[in-house]
Amino acid sequence: MSLPLSRRAFVGGSAGLAASCASAREVRAVSSAGRKPVMVGSENALPGMQAQFEHLLAGGAPLDAAIEVCKVAEADPKDTSVGLGGTPNEDGVVQLDAACMDGRIHKSGAVAAIEDILHPIEVARIVLERTDHCQIFGADAYRFARAHGFPHTELLTEESRAVWMKWKEGLSDQDDRLGPPPAPPKSAPPSKDTKTSFVPARFERHGTIHCSVLALDGNVACATSTSGLAFKIPGRVGDSAIVGAGLYCDGEAGSAGSTGRGEASILACASAMIVEQLRNGRAPKDAGMEILRRIVRETERQALWQPALIGPDGRPSFDIQFYIVALDGSFAGVTLKGKTHARFAVSEPDGGPRLEALEALLT
Ligand code: GLY
Repeated sequence: MSLPLSRRAFVGGSAGLAASCASAREVRAVSSAGRKPVMVGSENALPGMQAQFEHLLAGGAPLDAAIEVCKVAEADPKDTSVGLGGTPNEDGVVQLDAACMDGRIHKSGAVAAIEDILHPIEVARIVLERTDHCQIFGADAYRFARAHGFPHTELLTEESRAVWMKWKEGLSDQDDRLGPPPAPPKSAPPSKDTKTSFVPARFERHGTIHCSVLALDGNVACATSTSGLAFKIPGRVGDSAIVGAGLYCDGEAGSAGSTGRGEASILACASAMIVEQLRNGRAPKDAGMEILRRIVRETERQALWQPALIGPDGRPSFDIQFYIVALDGSFAGVTLKGKTHARFAVSEPDGGPRLEALEALLT
């Protein structure tokens, strides 16, 4: 497959890019006269956007930018929702989902439940560029990655292992796991209950990185990567590996992606539905809110089989976010409730890379 603005050209031409970056202000003038490049994504996409935006301003390919943004989070052990140091499944194994899509050629690539590979989003890219398929799963995804030269990398950090064990030990008072002895009292007496269900505050059960990109030439691309739902059933595949759910783009309409409860995104075909709304002329915020309203209605029916999906306040007990960019450069970040995530990352010529408040459906 011949890809004129390929990763090889992009990376291999870095010297040229440095020169190009020097003239980014000129490019910015060109862009503001015509198209403007935009990146929109989850809050944890900001560091990657800061590194990539000058390249995008200089004419970089949107798929390159989206993937490079995700790779920053994948390599960061402090981001416990993605890649290295991601929260493991219930067996203590880090299983990753990742996908990318290129609107110019309308092709996607994805890997699901892949283990021991640092950059699943790069493997997803190989699926996109070097196969006629859209997704490769599990142990076969690992073998596919190794065959393409990706090194084996242990992704479970000592911190994520300790959190998993604490969760495991706190699961039930009907098993034989006791957990560590309570710490000696400081000012407050120790809790008598050492076996309550444990979901650590620092490790949200849902977390992901998404980045949607509109390039200077008007092409769109997107990428999503995640370690998925914390302590998930092994083999569970979330929306991040499913094109149409956790991400979707179309060169005729725009791009969208999600973070939060993957099952809600899958059952709503959320990202594809949002892009379809863009195609029909709706503004990004309106398109996102429409799908959030639909998810609320769907959740009311889903509560027939899972009552815990509705909280004591009668609203969905989970949260979900969407990041959206249209071909005209308009963008939005929306969230169902705004409790778990309040901000999203955006980069566009007028303001540069920054965080903005997500607009919540339920306030
Ligand atoms: N949205 C990420 C997941 O549910 O796996």
